Amino acid sequence: MSNIFILGGTGFVGCHVVHKLVTQGHTVTVATRRARHARALLTLPTVTVLELDVHSPMALEQAVAGHDVVVNLVAILHGNEAAFHKVHVELPAHVARAAVAAGVPRVVHVSALGANPQQPLAAPSHYLRSKSMGELALGHPALAVLVLRPSVIFGAEDKFLNVFAGLQRVFPCMPLASAQARFQPVWVEDVARAVARLVQVRAAAGATRVWEACGPQVYTLGDLVHGAGVWAGIAQGRGRPVIPLPAWAGRLQAALMQLAPGEPLMSADNLDSMRVDNVATGAVAGLSDLGIAPAALEPIAMDYLQRGRSGHGLLGLRRRV
Ligand SMILES: NC(=O)c1ccc[n+]([C@@H]2O[C@H](COP(=O)([O-])OP(=O)(O)OC[C@H]3O[C@@H](n4cnc5c(N)ncnc54)[C@H](OP(=O)(O)O)[C@@H]3O)[C@@H](O)[C@H]2O)c1
Repeated sequence: MSNIFILGGTGFVGCHVVHKLVTQGHTVTVATRRARHARALLTLPTVTVLELDVHSPMALEQAVAGHDVVVNLVAILHGNEAAFHKVHVELPAHVARAAVAAGVPRVVHVSALGANPQQPLAAPSHYLRSKSMGELALGHPALAVLVLRPSVIFGAEDKFLNVFAGLQRVFPCMPLASAQARFQPVWVEDVARAVARLVQVRAAAGATRVWEACGPQVYTLGDLVHGAGVWAGIAQGRGRPVIPLPAWAGRLQAALMQLAPGEPLMSADNLDSMRVDNVATGAVAGLSDLGIAPAALEPIAMDYLQRGRSGHGLLGLRRRV
């Protein structure tokens, strides 16, 4: 069993990963900017929560010492170019340096489908360019790097299908930008399983290996938004009509959403990301190479969308462990 250091373990995917690792008998240190973000993990056996300035190279180096592997799940979905660079490029670079300095041989890094480290500047958005550069920033001759690139991730606590279902509880129709963008949604439990497998993969120092994490079926964004309403049972199970917006109207909608307080539902950068399909390329290994048969979306989404709020929080998470 391994001694695992995890960054981003308090997030949507991270909580599932931590539960999985604990269930498999590993000891886990969860680094977080605020200990209260890890409240749901405090009661787990073999978990230590460490409040830490994860952007401080020195603090990181001290904290990772003594662990067998570092798992990095830290990311943001919204922000300006500088924020993406800090979180998606500088932080992985610090993680790599800290691991090497502390003698930790392996890093498991969760990136995103569409990352293209061969041509980082060819990626269409700040998010994907920074994710591409982040993969490169981890490379070091003394380190084995295991990268997982998921498509969009669904699960009871997601901010994706839950949000689209929630909007359909309020609004009679869904004006939608990039309705034809394609995704291959993957269940959060399958992603957690994949991370737990990667923790065990031995790779040579200096090697970077990549896996894509995708579900069994490709959907357009329009299908998913409409499906969220149908699966949640809204409008007697018909869902609300989706009205595809032309590109200019989508940009205007995103600009208005970015003016509202809090995390925008859709930003201009999100629209840029959707200019490339978010589906498996097949050019690298996939979940089946890790022995995982990915779950179909609809039965799982129906279950948690119809349970509404009851699938959220610690209760919902415990139910699936
Ligand atoms: N969700 C998806 O559909 C999806 C799709 C493709 C790829 N991914 C990738 O999967 C990974 C996990 O995603 P997620 O959805 O679980 O993300 P999440 O719920 O937003 O969690 C991200 C974590 O990052 C930390 N974090 C956030 N902002 C930070 C900042 N400015 N500086 C340092 N730490 C920060 C937070 O930890 P603390 O608050 O505890 O510090 C949080 O636990 C990410 O790499 C993401 O890009 C996700």
